[in-house]
Amino acid sequence: MKFKKPIFILLIVFATSSASSDVFTLRPKEEPYFVQEGNEGVLLPCVINTKYFDKSKYEINWAQYHNGLLRMITKNEKLLIKKNSRFSLENDATTGNYSLRITEVEKQSVEGTYHCNVIGTDDSDIQYSAQATVVVLVPPGDPIISTTSSESVIEGDFMTAKCVSVGGSPQPTFKWTLPNDTLASPSLFTTQFRDGATESLLQ
Ligand SMILES: *[C@@H]1O[C@H](CO)[C@@H](O)[C@H](O)[C@H]1NC(C)=O
Ligand SMILES: *[C@@H]1O[C@H](CO)[C@@H](O)[C@H](O)[C@H]1NC(C)=O
Repeated sequence: MKFKKPIFILLIVFATSSASSDVFTLRPKEEPYFVQEGNEGVLLPCVINTKYFDKSKYEINWAQYHNGLLRMITKNEKLLIKKNSRFSLENDATTGNYSLRITEVEKQSVEGTYHCNVIGTDDSDIQYSAQATVVVLVPPGDPIISTTSSESVIEGDFMTAKCVSVGGSPQPTFKWTLPNDTLASPSLFTTQFRDGATESLLQ
């Protein structure tokens, strides 16, 4: 009975040492994948070690999380989303290649966090996961400038100028160039977001 404790500790060490680094021989990069709306997408690589090839023991799937929702995209060799799918599984089961391609970028359906999962199909509770983050960039609308006073002002008068850009993700930032070709100091203008547009007010 006095050997029970050391054996227990040994088992824990063994269990944690078989962690996800030897499950995935190729996994997505840690930095986000930036893609542009309307563009052709990217390949999210996921290649599984031969040890996990046995379909009777492991299921391999891709899941996407976005705004708190979970969506299953693939299960083993099958693409689960059929209608307007913006994904394809670039799969070769003989090499363990389960890479997922985003074929068409559309912000609502493509943005989110992706998980390439290896899940034990018995009751072992085994689950390994490789993650990728996809961020969709949407170019902001052309800037539209307007002044609140008449076109000509007398030197020394106050005037304000407003510049508006619609849309854009992430939100656009502004820089103002003064008539003498110098950049306006950030203390001279304020920028705010309202009704889907970003506006900058120069005083
Ligand atoms: C996985 O398959 C895709 C599509 O066939 C290919 O582009 C990619 O290079 C493969 N990756 C590896 C590591 O074999
Ligand atoms: C450019 O114009 C701004 C605003 O009139 C002024 O504050 C700034 O000193 C000028 N810069 C130069 C280099 O003349």
